[in-house]
Order: sequence, then structure tokens, then C-alpha cells
Amino acid sequence: MIIEATSVNILRVVEILLAEDVVGIPTETVYGLGGLATSAKAVRKIYCLKNRPADNPLITHFCSVNLVNKYVKFEEAGQIAERLASLWPGPLTLILPIRDERLRVSTAGLDYCGVRIPSHPICLELLDQLDEPLAAPSANKSGYCSPTKAQHVEDDFEGKILVLKGDDDILGIESTVVSLVGRPRILRLGAVPYETLAELLSIDPAELIMESEIMAPGKKYKHYSPRQKVMVSNQSPHFDCCVIKPKNTLELMKNFYSILREADKLNKTIVISCELDPRRFPDYVVFDRLKKMGAEFA
Ligand code: TXA
Ligand code: MG
Repeated sequence: MIIEATSVNILRVVEILLAEDVVGIPTETVYGLGGLATSAKAVRKIYCLKNRPADNPLITHFCSVNLVNKYVKFEEAGQIAERLASLWPGPLTLILPIRDERLRVSTAGLDYCGVRIPSHPICLELLDQLDEPLAAPSANKSGYCSPTKAQHVEDDFEGKILVLKGDDDILGIESTVVSLVGRPRILRLGAVPYETLAELLSIDPAELIMESEIMAPGKKYKHYSPRQKVMVSNQSPHFDCCVIKPKNTLELMKNFYSILREADKLNKTIVISCELDPRRFPDYVVFDRLKKMGAEFA
């Protein structure tokens, strides 16, 4: 069931989370399936609802750097972490060593946890009141398109959870994931351009990113995919299909998953008609997701 983000409902969600249950929550990137990051019970339910492979760790959301530092070794990560964290609250996930062992239930047993402070005002208010770390993967069935509207979460989990409705005007693509284990490396392209990160660290963007190196643990699974075949082509197709012509790539990024979910309902091949320049943001993020869903480029 979808509920509006009134202060009464936010409190209700906080209580549900403290009781180790799971709720759909808005963030500025995509909706998340939230549960207490230190609760084995809540985390088990997240994996079970999503049908997520047990070796794929969850991102944990915090309300402040102070709280981050209590649970992971943020201070020890020094200036690099501090500079990157200037983008918080925002769509950036940093992989840092665990300080509090209780987080391990969310990391698939890894010594490192993906952490971020989201900027969505409703999400921040919720985290602030919760004052605990909140594990939240994207609120879709494993392998399917991320949810960018409360209704998408409802569609995927059919009345099994409450969904706190945010303002649905969001970035529409997931956070950028950066590992700070060893030299900084991008594990997943996302809503923060890698050029921005390179500038903050005063390094060459090429040092952060090498195509073959983009490998979060989830990489080996098929990701973000609609059920129907997706093609990217500027030629007029000569078969019955669903043609999508975005105004520009920024608009495409914002509405990407929403468009794919809609088109999927029509049971037709999806043809996206646009020019993508894989060297430019946000084109390279959309390009990355299209490749991961096995899209054909013609
Ligand atoms: O924007 C986002 O990041 C959204 C919102 C809800 O915050 N969350 C999200 O979570 O996209 P999820 O679980 O769908 O994708 C998280 C990605 C996965 O590819 C996972 O393998 C990687 O981040 N990841 C999480 N924890 C990690 C860790 N400790 N080490 C390496 N990769 C990690
Ligand atoms: Mg996901």
C-alpha cells in the first residue's frame, strides 16, 4: 500500500523499521527497500522479497557523517573520503571498512560496507528520526528495472509492504558507487559524473575508471532489465514495436526506468531512438545500464 509522507506516516514507518520490518522508501535516485542494517531479520526479508542473490551486499543509508563514522571507518579513510563526502547528502555511495560488526548482516559477510547519505528530504527526515543505519537496495525484484515511482514499488511487491511516497521528480538513476579500499575506484557508474569525483580528488578521471574494472559484486548478475528486448537505433523500425524518442539524454536518464516499465507492459520490443555519446555525462550512465540489460545497438 502506498502512503503519503505526512509526519504521522513518517513516524509510523520509523516504528515499523525499529520493529525490524521492511518498507519502500523514496530517495533522490530511485526508491529503496529499507530495513534496519543491523537486523538480520529485516535484511533477510529484503533479500527474500527481492529474490536477491545472497552474495550481493546492500547499500546502507545514514542521516549524518557522525553516524557514518560510528559504523564504518570514515575518519581513517582520511582526506580522500572527506573530499568525496562533500557530495553528501547526495547520490554517492562510498565503500568503507566496517567499524561496527553488526553491519555485517547487510554486507553479505564482506568487511566493507557501501554507505551513503541521501539528499531526498523525506528520506533524510525519516533517517534523522530513525537515527540508525538503514540498508536499502533498489526496491525492485532482483534483475528488473529500478523503481522511480511509488507505484513501481507497489507493482513489484503487490501489497506485501508499505511504500512511503516521495515526490516522484527524482534523478531516476542509481548512485555512483566508489570503493575506497585501496586506491579510489568506481564500481558502478551513476548519478554523480566521474569527472566531478576526479576533480574533487585532483586526479585524472582515467585513474578512477577503467571499463573492465567496473565491478560491484552485483555485476555478474543480469541487471536493470525489462522483460522485453531493448534496441537502440535511429533507423525507423519495420516491425511492430514500442518506439521511444527522448528530447535529450538528461530527460532519458530521468525517465529511463519508467519508460522501460511502461513499454514492458505492452509486450513489444522497445526501440530507443537517440544519439548517445559514451564519452559524455549522462550518456555514459544510460549506455552502461543499456549494456547491462543486454540492449542491442543498431
Ligand atoms: O541509488 C542507489 O544506490 C539506490 C538507492 C535506494 O540508494 N540503491 C541501490 O542499491 O541501487 P542496489 O542494491 O540496487 O545496488 C547496490 C550496488 C550493487 O551493485 C552492489 O553489488 C554494490 O552496490 N555494493 C553494495 N555494497 C557493496 C560493498 N560492500 N562492496 C562492493 N559493492 C557493493
Ligand atoms: Mg538495484
